Amino acid sequence: MRILITGGAGQVGKAFSRQVQNHELFACSRSELDISDPISISKAIESYRPDVIINCGALTDVDKCETSPELAMNINGHAVGLLATQAEKCGASLVQISTDYVFDGEKDGPYLETDPTKPISVYGQSKLLGEQLAGSGALIVRTSWVMSLDGNNILVKILRLLDEGGELKFVDDQIGCPTFTDDLVNVVMKLVESDVTGVVHVTNGGSTSWFDFAQHVAECAGSDPKQVSPISGSELNRPARRPKNSTLENRRLSDLGFPQLPHYLDSLDHLLSNENRDRS
Ligand SMILES: NC(=O)c1ccc[n+]([C@@H]2O[C@H](COP(=O)([O-])OP(=O)(O)OC[C@H]3O[C@@H](n4cnc5c(N)ncnc54)[C@H](OP(=O)(O)O)[C@@H]3O)[C@@H](O)[C@H]2O)c1
Repeated sequence: MRILITGGAGQVGKAFSRQVQNHELFACSRSELDISDPISISKAIESYRPDVIINCGALTDVDKCETSPELAMNINGHAVGLLATQAEKCGASLVQISTDYVFDGEKDGPYLETDPTKPISVYGQSKLLGEQLAGSGALIVRTSWVMSLDGNNILVKILRLLDEGGELKFVDDQIGCPTFTDDLVNVVMKLVESDVTGVVHVTNGGSTSWFDFAQHVAECAGSDPKQVSPISGSELNRPARRPKNSTLENRRLSDLGFPQLPHYLDSLDHLLSNENRDRS
């Protein structure tokens, strides 16, 4: 297949470039393909003639979305509609990466694909609009707490703060499912190769709070977990609200007969031990 990746310089976009070897992949950064610009989209489609477009482009700064709602709705919402229209014209299928933040976090237990959405932030609203505008023939992959060793994510931030030796404060009243880009990409590609459409939750196994997660990272990295202390979300005074519980159950993945992703602790351990080996 010829696969066009938008948002190719982001952490998920880069993971596709790193991992996908058995298809022709064209990864475009924002400067090469701006998904909010119809001319930019049609030029890229003309050049690359994709069979599949995987949209990893997004405004992912949740607080910036809250303070710049128009920009957020444009990039995370309306731009997906532009991609869907042009994908349909050229006969390509569309994969939209979406988020746990489409839920309000009030459910007692993990969210299923069939649960009603109710975003509590502009980011969540804009990503939900993106899901709706992707169209009924698209594959919508909802994932959460995405991380890797490159890019701008909490794992990288925790490791940097541990190295600097300061005190780390992480919220203990928000739980979710950490998801590693390599595991995510692996499953997205299986779904793409099987022509799956509709909403599919894709996260690593297990769930945790950010506080517990930061302590686990400290342990895995050989640092003292006591460097990490808990704080409540409200104490941080951030512009956007976060769902208290945004754990996702990968129910459709099981129903479709795909294996579940590894537990997040196994992937974390694997990632950090490879990193330590590379350093030594
Ligand atoms: N990160 C998470 O925890 C998380 C959780 C759930 C779902 N997701 C979803 O996963 C997807 C990938 O996120 P990520 O973690 O890889 O985020 P990321 O590292 O912030 O990457 C997003 C990329 O999109 C690019 N972009 C922004 N505006 C664009 C535009 N108009 N046209 C084309 N590209 C544009 C950004 O470029 P610039 O940097 O130049 O702006 C960036 O390279 C997103 O759809 C996100 O909503 C992420």
